[in-house]
Amino acid sequence: MSHSATAPVQYRTPARQARTRRYLMCRPTYFEVSYRINPWMDPAKPVDRDLAVAQWERLREVYLGLGHQVDLIEPLPGTPDMVYAANGATVIDGKVLGARFRNQERAAEGPAYQEWFRAHGYTDVLDPRHVNEGEGDFLVTGAWILAGTGFRTSPQGHAEAQEFFGRPVIGLELVDPRYYHLDTALAVLDDNEVMYNPAAFSPGSRAVLERLFPTAVLASAADAEVFGLNAVSDGRNVVLPQAAVGLADQLRRHGFEPIGVDLFELLKGGGSVKCCTLDVRDQR
Ligand code: ARG
Repeated sequence: MSHSATAPVQYRTPARQARTRRYLMCRPTYFEVSYRINPWMDPAKPVDRDLAVAQWERLREVYLGLGHQVDLIEPLPGTPDMVYAANGATVIDGKVLGARFRNQERAAEGPAYQEWFRAHGYTDVLDPRHVNEGEGDFLVTGAWILAGTGFRTSPQGHAEAQEFFGRPVIGLELVDPRYYHLDTALAVLDDNEVMYNPAAFSPGSRAVLERLFPTAVLASAADAEVFGLNAVSDGRNVVLPQAAVGLADQLRRHGFEPIGVDLFELLKGGGSVKCCTLDVRDQR
């Protein structure tokens, strides 16, 4: 792991506090790239499913090693993208907003995730009327929900989320098809801190981000291209794609502990660390 390889550094920022999380993941048992709904997917390119499973297992072990709880949802045959659990729902204070997918290929995943939450004792589960792809496009800060649109989640989906959660939704327009979900372009590091790729957003949305997060970590094009922003933070440890070395350095300078993992096989479907991880925010 990259963070253990370097000597201890003196930080000017105070030590960051990790908060124990509960994550929901889906083993890539049926993973393949048989259709193309984002520019990363190429059905002609072979996929090594065993390697995808091994890389995914490693990610799960990293979370367990950090003391987090990892729950698993049973993968459905015929839904190769179900491994990208972040898209399955959005959960805040135990309230579950189900997902409604833009593409027919993923339609069955929405009800499957809702069913999982109902079966696990969640009573406030909304089956949405408008398209939203869960935490792929909804990222939660201390005060707001940052919400991506442009490719998948609709502005009506944003309004539906604001009404359901009673939290202000900040709409952000994505403009680069390679960064089609908000979680491929921005990661929440802490209640008030984010890192993002400015080039993925419209000029107005970039201005909004500068206004809300003037001290944000900005990713280089190279780090964004290896999906460095598809990261999961517990407030201290930031699990991110191993190849995003520049971003790891920047995070260290901001007092975070970057932990690189290799998920390149799952990148063939257009997802990495965050895509594989649904943050189940129970009542605190
Ligand atoms: N193949 C999937 C899709 O295009 C990848 C989803 C990645 N998930 C994410 N949270 N960005 O829908």
